Amino acid sequence: MNNDQIDRLVEAASAVRDRAYAPYSGYRVGAAVLTADGRVFTGCNVENASYGLGVCAERHAVAAAVAGGGRNLVAVAVVTTSSPPASPCGACRQVLAEFGNLEVVMANIGGERRRTTVAELLPDAFDPATLAAAGDDVDDADP
Ligand code: THU
Repeated sequence: MNNDQIDRLVEAASAVRDRAYAPYSGYRVGAAVLTADGRVFTGCNVENASYGLGVCAERHAVAAAVAGGGRNLVAVAVVTTSSPPASPCGACRQVLAEFGNLEVVMANIGGERRRTTVAELLPDAFDPATLAAAGDDVDDADP
């Protein structure tokens, strides 16, 4: 990603962060994913009175991309108020890994940025290639 693309992604994540629904933690998160064809899809965290049902910003951004027909993901930006900028949680790392080794930009509203990749955040991931390498047949799974 070039600097313009990073700026665009971080701005989109920052804007959607304003719409986060986080009445329980007070911690608002915005995320934006970039597709190979240049489209941007966004998501924010949405919490719930049944606490465990809250969903992170990154997973909502991935779902928005898939629903919008954009599965070829190349990058994700996550914006919080944390300093240093927060990295995606474990569950989100797993969901991101499903869609490839995305570039990850972590940013905060103060302008700090960090860059990494999904593979660095989640080495040796259990991913589609793991299943493909197993050679199991779905028809054999029910003895
Ligand atoms: N959260 C995210 O949206 N993304 C992450 O990667 C970590 C945590 C949300 C979940 C919850 O609504 C709030 O941040 C506090 O954990």
